[in-house]
Amino acid sequence: MAEAPTPLFEIDGLHVSAPDGSPILRGVDLTILPGELHALMGPNGSGKSTLASTLMGSPEYTVTAGSIRFRGDDITDWGADLRGRAGIFLAFQYPQAIQGVSVLNFLRQALSARKGLDLSMLELRLSIMEWMERLDMDPAFADRYLNDGFSGGEKKRNEVLQMAILEPEVAVLDETDSGLDIDALRVVARGVQEVRRDRPELGVLAITHYQRLLEELDPDHVHLLVDGRIVESGGPELAHRLEDEGYGAWQRPA
Ligand SMILES: Nc1ncnc2c1ncn2[C@@H]1O[C@H](COP(=O)(O)OP(=O)(O)O)[C@@H](O)[C@H]1O
Ligand SMILES: [Mg+2]
Repeated sequence: MAEAPTPLFEIDGLHVSAPDGSPILRGVDLTILPGELHALMGPNGSGKSTLASTLMGSPEYTVTAGSIRFRGDDITDWGADLRGRAGIFLAFQYPQAIQGVSVLNFLRQALSARKGLDLSMLELRLSIMEWMERLDMDPAFADRYLNDGFSGGEKKRNEVLQMAILEPEVAVLDETDSGLDIDALRVVARGVQEVRRDRPELGVLAITHYQRLLEELDPDHVHLLVDGRIVESGGPELAHRLEDEGYGAWQRPA
């Protein structure tokens, strides 16, 4: 019998508190295997972004119980840098506009932090060009300053480009509150699919309430987070049900 693959993420009984000590996550269990795409949905304030930040090692949140394993290692106490280097990618982890740093330069720094690789500008430019073509991006984009006047769609392109170039093992995409227009959604969906085509082992946790994004991403598993707990898991049909019925059936009466 084939051995079961080592999970990318194995989240076990995770409890997380905010800086003021108030509990946000109250026992989250979630396992993501290589190549799987999981969608996490849930009403505003249920703790989705907190989970994303906690997975990334944000110092803002405190794990009060439970554990996070990444490819078999307990990373619950690891800092964000170490996690990034190990191959955990979080879209939006980077600051807003960075004065005088081009997209190309930023990717070079990020890549060297992630892999210790010091690619020449030429090598990096070639690999970026290839991806920009696949992602249908204007080559001039590489020389623009990071996030300086980027449209929503351009920010997304930049994030997808980072994901493609950094070659993470697992990517956490938090698209919940970003007010994405159709163009930006398409960029994310196409980009994720393009990167997965290249690297079928990539695991993805996509946090979104955009049905459209889920349709294009075609998740293997859909989870519903309410009040800091996963109250239901299923396949894509769960996303459809949520779209039709809303979250009402799962929420505590106010
Ligand atoms: N840094 C923080 N300090 C205090 N409360 C926080 C903090 N971050 C999140 N929360 C609270 O935790 C709950 C979950 O927030 P969040 O994870 O952003 O939810 P979601 O992304 O599902 O909308 C909310 O009630 C929010 O106000
Ligand atoms: Mg959020």
